[in-house]
Amino acid sequence: MPLLRHADLQPYNTFGIAAKAEAFARFTTADELRGLLAAPELSVMPRLVLGGGSNILFTRDFDGLVLLNEVPGIEVVREDADHVNVKAGAGVVWHDLVLHAVAQGWGGIENLSLIPGKVGAAPMQNIGAYGVELKDAFVSLEALRISDGAIITFGLSECAFGYRESFFKREGKDRFIILNVSLKLTKRDHIIRTAYGDIQGELARMGVTQPTIKDVSAAVIAIRSSKLPDPKVLGNAGSFFKNPVVESTIAERIKLDHPNAPVYPAGEGHSKLAAGWLIEQCGWKGKRLDHCGVHEKQALVLVNHGGATGSEIWDLSDQVMRSVRERFGVELEREVNVV
Ligand code: FAD
Ligand code: EPU
Repeated sequence: MPLLRHADLQPYNTFGIAAKAEAFARFTTADELRGLLAAPELSVMPRLVLGGGSNILFTRDFDGLVLLNEVPGIEVVREDADHVNVKAGAGVVWHDLVLHAVAQGWGGIENLSLIPGKVGAAPMQNIGAYGVELKDAFVSLEALRISDGAIITFGLSECAFGYRESFFKREGKDRFIILNVSLKLTKRDHIIRTAYGDIQGELARMGVTQPTIKDVSAAVIAIRSSKLPDPKVLGNAGSFFKNPVVESTIAERIKLDHPNAPVYPAGEGHSKLAAGWLIEQCGWKGKRLDHCGVHEKQALVLVNHGGATGSEIWDLSDQVMRSVRERFGVELEREVNVV
């Protein structure tokens, strides 16, 4: 593919932020990627890999090479009566992989329906929703090591997955480019997970009493569509912040004043708070500051009402963080990757 100079990144980030890349190229194979990384005029530039651009905020132009990952393919690499191991190219749209699995009757990722973005970014923050995380179905991934172009296989423990965390978001950042991901899915005796959020309520509304993986996928799609803004209509990157994990004494203090505050167990002596609830309590839900704001149905989602700059959204996030700190003594952490 031709190399573009001073490329417009607005179509490549779901916040819809106008930013430019010094250079821009697509890759579909490891060899194409190696060629780009080794090209004399490109090898000295900083690099940024992009999938669907649904978890990134550009606060400036990127003075380097943006690599758009388009590695294709979904392939069965192992199969027996109970399980199937599926390898998906990093450029496959995540939801297409989920729909493919659901259509084949393969269970394990149906609760992760409708998460935007591509397969290659899914391990970055160990995507999660409705009681399931990528790690629950994960087997391994292959990534290209930027320093020497070698392809390295990472198993589950090497990825160091946590809540919205992984090796690739921390120590491995800017050192590896994920090329494919392998998952183990069930062919029978599926574990149907409906305990989280309103899945059971949604299934009841659908008239379903014995849910299949297809039903769970449909329920998750319905719930998500009802409260998360469609980036094609309103620019956003999903949850802007993580749900904070705090010492349980802090959660108990909040509960004293607000008995209905959502609090979830998060390991010995720790609790997870709902950032959306904290932000709503501070009066931010639905608030608009010029070109950007806080979503009216989900206070954890910051939105671009049109024409917002990345810096405006960053400043808004700062103000939200300050409010939550002053009101509850809780520090929010940004989930979105900031450039
Ligand atoms: P990008 O935004 O393109 O990239 C994200 C980061 O990963 C960047 O730092 C990028 O450099 C890096 N990266 C991308 N591809 C690679 C690669 N191949 N190798 C190495 N690094 C790479 N997330 C959830 O976990 N759960 C949700 O429920 C959820 N809901 C969302 C709802 C909406 C409406 C939106 C807009 C976002 C939501 N997200 C959610 C966030 C986002 O969809 C996920 O984080 C997704 O995995 C990002 O994929 P992407 O391809 O768009 O990544
Ligand atoms: N809540 C409020 N006000 C709000 C938003 C939420 O009070 O404005 C309360 C809800 O009533 C509920 C609790 O907070 O009691 C949790 O809300 P919800 O179930 O909507 O989920 P969330 O914690 O806000 C997380 C993930 C989402 C994921 C959903 C479903 C994080 C940072 N976010 O949101 O992931 O889709 O759960 O599992 O963990 C993302 O990462 O981009 C993302 C969208």
